Amino acid sequence: MPVNPHWFNLFLYIWLGLAGVIFILLVVLKIEVPYGRYTRTGWGSFIRNRAGWVLMEFPSLVVFSALFLAEGRKHDAVTWFFFAIWVFHYINRSLIYPFRIRPFSKKMPLSVMFMGIFFNLINASANGYYLGFLKPDYPDAWWKDIRFILGVMIYLFGVVANWWADGKLIRLRKNHDNEYKIPYGGLFRYVSCPNYLGEIMEWSGFALMAWNLPALAFAVWTFANLVPRALNHQAWYQRTFPAYPKERKALIPFIL
Ligand SMILES: NC(=O)c1ccc[n+]([C@@H]2O[C@H](COP(=O)([O-])OP(=O)(O)OC[C@H]3O[C@@H](n4cnc5c(N)ncnc54)[C@H](OP(=O)(O)O)[C@@H]3O)[C@@H](O)[C@H]2O)c1
Repeated sequence: MPVNPHWFNLFLYIWLGLAGVIFILLVVLKIEVPYGRYTRTGWGSFIRNRAGWVLMEFPSLVVFSALFLAEGRKHDAVTWFFFAIWVFHYINRSLIYPFRIRPFSKKMPLSVMFMGIFFNLINASANGYYLGFLKPDYPDAWWKDIRFILGVMIYLFGVVANWWADGKLIRLRKNHDNEYKIPYGGLFRYVSCPNYLGEIMEWSGFALMAWNLPALAFAVWTFANLVPRALNHQAWYQRTFPAYPKERKALIPFIL
């Protein structure tokens, strides 16, 4: 499956540019992507949240793994480490996380699910293809490279923050009700969306440790999706709960 690396990179530069456009549109027009608390009619038919999340995220696991393994190439240990990170994340996001969310009856528009599938397919294909086919081997010295070490630290903090915050939000609905409550404690003392902060750190850490264009593109897209959504959540919390803590920022403690 040969793809000219020049065209591959050109495609990724365009994809990165598109992330910038989407980011600006979402922030300037204050668009609330219609799932979760912003679910509304006018976006087509609906699908149950749980099925939506599985169908949206599972292709990322399959396509990335298939492309990575397709050529049967003998990979170095560092590349296998990156493979494990991707698989670990998407096993959670596509097969564990959807079965934790409550209530079971909530739905998302199919159009949002298809947008998610599109986004995931491009990022998974680019990263799987690059690691499986294009990248030069990482030398053993990469384990001690400052980009790798810093990337792993940022990534680990991100995973823990994301898992913890998603869990905390999910547990706010003990009785499987449909209500929203103010989350308190831990990173919620500082920001409204520690799960998004964690996710952005995860993929920024991954981009730093893998040091390649597709990983960077995925980190930038994650930022472009989640920064506007965190700003929306912050505004939503403030107008919904008069007692919402005033000092709490949206995403980055003390800053944003
Ligand atoms: N890489 C990317 O580009 C990307 C894009 C999107 C999402 N994600 C990740 O996917 C995960 C879910 O994203 P999301 O946008 O659905 O996150 P979210 O809006 O924070 O919601 C997470 C879960 O918690 C519930 N919840 C949130 N706030 C609540 C509150 N105050 N009271 C009670 N329940 C509350 C939500 O219920 P409702 O669904 O009913 O609101 C949902 O089940 C996150 O970890 C995020 O980082 C990644």
